[in-house]
Amino acid sequence: MILTLMAAADLEWGIGVNGKLPWHLPEDLKRFKARTMGKAVVMGRKTVETLPSSLPGRRILTLTRHPLGFGQHDLASLLTTLASETDEIIVAGGGEVYRALLPYCNRAEITRVKGVYTADTRLIDLSEHGWTLLSSDPLSEISDIEQWTRA
Ligand SMILES: NC(=O)c1ccc[n+]([C@@H]2O[C@H](COP(=O)([O-])OP(=O)(O)OC[C@H]3O[C@@H](n4cnc5c(N)ncnc54)[C@H](OP(=O)(O)O)[C@@H]3O)[C@@H](O)[C@H]2O)c1
Repeated sequence: MILTLMAAADLEWGIGVNGKLPWHLPEDLKRFKARTMGKAVVMGRKTVETLPSSLPGRRILTLTRHPLGFGQHDLASLLTTLASETDEIIVAGGGEVYRALLPYCNRAEITRVKGVYTADTRLIDLSEHGWTLLSSDPLSEISDIEQWTRA
């Protein structure tokens, strides 16, 4: 089972501000849609609440501490169930969920936004936590797609 962290981050690993993305990158939203189609996607309750609509074609798993919701402790049993349905689970944020699930992830795909934005939510610097950058390819004039793996 592949567990992939997917995030867009600026040069200082900023990912969010005031509950929103710090930038408007249509090309990344388009790529996110294509990349997650047919997959199971794990998101925090706060990020799910910012979505303009449901995400058709994807199984969205909302992480919450609400007793009736899907919590982190359920993840192991959920992974076993999902293994028969999908080859990959995507961890799609936000900040708290990235922190909680990073230890389970074996791949990371970072859309690197080539600037420094005002941010109140950050991802940790993967290079300082045992991850290795494998490749970086242009997505647009201001963004690259980085592939990371656990060293
Ligand atoms: N740049 C990107 O790629 C990207 C992607 C996604 C989001 N974002 C940004 O990130 C920001 C939101 O991040 P956030 O950290 O505030 O919120 P979040 O991670 O989206 O959601 C936090 C909520 O998730 C639940 N949760 C978190 N960890 C949990 C755990 N270990 N077990 C069970 N439930 C857990 C809790 O829900 P309950 O309160 O219901 O218990 C918690 O309040 C926004 O600015 C958003 O735009 C950026």
